Amino acid sequence: MSAIIPEVFLKRGKERAMLNRHPWVFSGAVAKQPDGVEMGDIVCLKESDGKRVGYGFYAPNTQIVCKVFEFTANECILDSDYWKNKLCRAIELRKQYVLNAETDACRLVFSEADYLPGLIVDQYGDVIVLQVLTRGMEKLLDVFVSSLHSCDYKHIYIRTKDATERMEGVHGNSHWIGDKPTAPILMREHGMTLEVDVEQGQKTGMFLDQRENRHLVRHYSKGKTVLNAFAYTGGFTVSALMGGATAVDSVDISEDALACCDRNVARNTYASPPVHKSVRTDCFDYLRSTQTAYDLIVLDPPAFAKNSKAMDAAARGYKDLNLIAFRNLRPSGILFTFSCSRSIDKELFRKIVFSAASDAGRNVRILHQLTQPIDHPINICHPEGEYLKGLVLFVE
Ligand SMILES: C[S@@+](CC[C@H](N)C(=O)[O-])C[C@H]1O[C@@H](n2cnc3c(N)ncnc32)[C@H](O)[C@@H]1O
Repeated sequence: MSAIIPEVFLKRGKERAMLNRHPWVFSGAVAKQPDGVEMGDIVCLKESDGKRVGYGFYAPNTQIVCKVFEFTANECILDSDYWKNKLCRAIELRKQYVLNAETDACRLVFSEADYLPGLIVDQYGDVIVLQVLTRGMEKLLDVFVSSLHSCDYKHIYIRTKDATERMEGVHGNSHWIGDKPTAPILMREHGMTLEVDVEQGQKTGMFLDQRENRHLVRHYSKGKTVLNAFAYTGGFTVSALMGGATAVDSVDISEDALACCDRNVARNTYASPPVHKSVRTDCFDYLRSTQTAYDLIVLDPPAFAKNSKAMDAAARGYKDLNLIAFRNLRPSGILFTFSCSRSIDKELFRKIVFSAASDAGRNVRILHQLTQPIDHPINICHPEGEYLKGLVLFVE
């Protein structure tokens, strides 16, 4: 098989990133576009002197022209066992450190971080959601599906992104492999039972990356009034109620998400108004107009900066949001504030929140600096994979 793998030569002097195991090869680093290579084909990467450096998926006529899945000087047999082993190694990490009797949902494969660029695999109980982001991974779909079946996962849903968000020539549409579950899909997270809509929900159904941060909220909630802003399906809400919050308001723009949030609250805590209230509105409007001051506020907005061009507007958005949150916090309040914008790094985020605190005239102490959990690991050679940052603040 490896004998027919096309070769791609890197330009002399442009090999450094690849030798540093960065998984992206930019088009400017390639000496000559290989002939007859189609979108998603596997290629063997070579230094200008012909030394093999690895294998990757090729994407002709794109900026990131190759996504590398193997760094090696040796020849590799890229058969189904190769891919199955890679998948199993990623799953093993989660089985060892994330999944347990209290938690049966997590990200099993996180793309470049697991040396499987373009592949996302999420587990929700006995349901797997598999998302391919590149044509290269799409071509291997059958191999991954049969490997997951052999690991005893019952239901597999292939979820493709909307046409507008698709990258690199992914063709297929979302569909179930085998039976679709007949009952609502439920997952367990640190003892909470949460409903997940893997077909219509955001991401693959749940923001799995906030699992440990949701758990931390429980620790701070006892006896507190809480605002969960950008609540989605209420993971932070349920966690706060389970931690002993006296009242929680969940605010989100999505009606479906809030309906699910109400069901999740009922399922776990039996709380009903006034202890728990869902409010469907824009969080900026809510924070500007509400007369309620809270003991604890969670701000978990969607990414304001989708790319580096949108950074200035995003920075203003984060500053406004944090400023109005500070104004709605009681003395000795706690703020959990997050950003999942990739182009706003943790230093910049901290500066933005500092600037909001300063404008609000509040004394603020950082209690925790938060990030993504271990099932969303950061490949040390691929800092672009670090995206979630959060601060827990004590606000006088
Ligand atoms: C990052 S998700 C929140 C995830 C949630 N914290 C959790 O743990 O599952 C962002 C949420 O913000 C909501 N949203 C986006 N823009 C909004 C706005 N301007 N006002 C209120 N909600 C908004 C989306 O519907 C989505 O549910």
